[in-house]
Amino acid sequence: MTRTAAIELGDCTHHNLKQLKKINSVVFPVSYNDRFYLDVLESGELCKLAFYNDIVVGAVCCRIDTLGHQRRLYIMTLGCLSPYRRLGIGTVMLNHILNYVENDGNFDNIFLHVQLNNEGAIAFYKKFGFEVVDKKQNYYKRIEPADAYVLQKNLKNIPEGTTSAIIQQNGTTMNGTSSSIDSN
Ligand SMILES: CC(C)(COP(=O)(O)OP(=O)(O)OC[C@H]1O[C@@H](n2cnc3c(N)ncnc32)[C@H](O)[C@@H]1OP(=O)(O)O)[C@@H](O)C(=O)NCCC(=O)NCCS
Repeated sequence: MTRTAAIELGDCTHHNLKQLKKINSVVFPVSYNDRFYLDVLESGELCKLAFYNDIVVGAVCCRIDTLGHQRRLYIMTLGCLSPYRRLGIGTVMLNHILNYVENDGNFDNIFLHVQLNNEGAIAFYKKFGFEVVDKKQNYYKRIEPADAYVLQKNLKNIPEGTTSAIIQQNGTTMNGTSSSIDSN
């Protein structure tokens, strides 16, 4: 008997929060604090667990961010366990988030940080139209390389010349997202 594998997304709740913590601790070299997980419980469609044949194998967590007049979606974490990669699970999670911002209709862009050497993730995001727009030196603490790329996908047409201004502004006023992030 052959059976097609099912990839599904489910809500993050008090009941499965430990599974989300476990996934994030295995997939990311960075640890997330209690505040992060409390916020997740209030995030609705912006935080989802990914199931592969009913097993939790991945998760995505995002938050809404502002920069000047821009309304942005920040992907804090999006990942799946390594044995389950290249099966389309990341695509299902990212498409969920892209559908969310499209249905909302009021986001200027969607962005995230990746470690400089994370070639797989960079290739993954580029496939969906993300571009490297900035490089943050010493973004990560206690992991190497410490620098991060900012990957961004614009959702609205930006007048020419504005992007560089945004990048310069990013260095100082990104609601905390430009500051260094702690690692395990
Ligand atoms: C990045 C990540 C989420 C991708 O998830 P995934 O489930 O493997 O992705 P998909 O199977 O949906 O891949 C879709 C496409 O992205 C590209 N891609 C994904 N991983 C890639 C890799 N390691 N190298 C090159 N291209 C890659 C491919 O084009 C792939 O299509 P294909 O398999 O048909 O060639 C996963 O590698 C991961 O969890 N990495 C660790 C966490 C992380 O670094 N997250 C990014 C920061 S938030």
